Amino acid sequence: MRVTVFSTKSYDRSFLDEANAAAGSRHEMRYIEARLTEESVALAAGADAVCAFVNDVLSGPVLETLAGDGTRLIALRSAGFNHVDLARAAELGLSVARVPAYSPDAVAEHTVALILSLNRKIHRAYARVREGNFALEGLLGFDLCGRTAGIVGAGKIGLAVARILKGFGCRVLVHDPAPSPELSVIGAEEASLEELLSQSDIVTLHCPLTPETHHLIDCNALARMKRGVMLINTGRGALVDTVALIDGLKSGAIGYLGLDVYEEEGDLFFENLSDKVLQDDIFARLLTFPNVLITGHQAFFTAEAMAEIARTTIENLTTFEGTGVPANPVELSA
Ligand code: NAI
Repeated sequence: MRVTVFSTKSYDRSFLDEANAAAGSRHEMRYIEARLTEESVALAAGADAVCAFVNDVLSGPVLETLAGDGTRLIALRSAGFNHVDLARAAELGLSVARVPAYSPDAVAEHTVALILSLNRKIHRAYARVREGNFALEGLLGFDLCGRTAGIVGAGKIGLAVARILKGFGCRVLVHDPAPSPELSVIGAEEASLEELLSQSDIVTLHCPLTPETHHLIDCNALARMKRGVMLINTGRGALVDTVALIDGLKSGAIGYLGLDVYEEEGDLFFENLSDKVLQDDIFARLLTFPNVLITGHQAFFTAEAMAEIARTTIENLTTFEGTGVPANPVELSA
């Protein structure tokens, strides 16, 4: 198949080339650095499939242009598909595929890295020691053992986080409308969102972004949480109301904030903007807090996960080419 790959970095290219070669180099990959938007969609003209990442725009108008230009498959290099207008894709006869599970452990381990770094203030200690400042004032942490961690959304990633945190000796509460039977094996406890928010020292978000979970953590949710709570979001930016978080940080309601995703990340993440003036005042304000640690959507970024994303993407292309249905379709009802 002729495939136009948007938002390509050098690492995407090398993993996809390797996976395509392993499958007999049957697909003709055309790599584009630009994000897929209404302006760049014309670059996909003539492609049978378009391969897109999390900040590519797959709105109705973009999908209409793609379908009109002959594209039949959208192959997402992500698990999340909240950025695709699935109803319009179905109307246009476009198939959508994703990578349902590439490495839940990669995201779970990054989540725990944020928890540990924030708690033991590794980000601050690193800078201090390099300046010859070995004072401990301001670096006081707490034992994870015995603390309560609340996991909102315990699918593949949330369960992996639960397993790790149980290993640290945490009490683990889980809120999920479709709880996995594995929870009892792990020793995690089911809870309502209310119970989880009011009892947890650490709250970490691993549910998908849907109309129901949009701004799940807003000022009302913050008011129900323990004062000084640690909040971690490696799910999707819009699960939290960032302005409410800034108010919570200023008042001390939030004691620690770890983010790998940001609602307006499309204009920032995955690019080197170090010589540009930051235009996003909300993001700039977040960066001023000593108890905020932000990474730029890198939780998935391990060698294992990248290899699996590439392998599954090539598999989606190959099965679609052979049968008209990708190996991992995203259904309209998903
Ligand atoms: P999954 O589909 O295995 O699990 C999601 C879980 O959330 C399910 O158990 C579901 O029942 C639950 N859920 C749905 N609605 C909920 C609600 N209103 N409240 C609580 N739980 C709810 O998905 P997986 O693989 O665990 O990924 C979770 C999310 O993590 C993805 O949707 C994606 O947005 C994000 N993600 C972030 C990455 C990163 O690099 N930062 C990488 C991969 C995924």
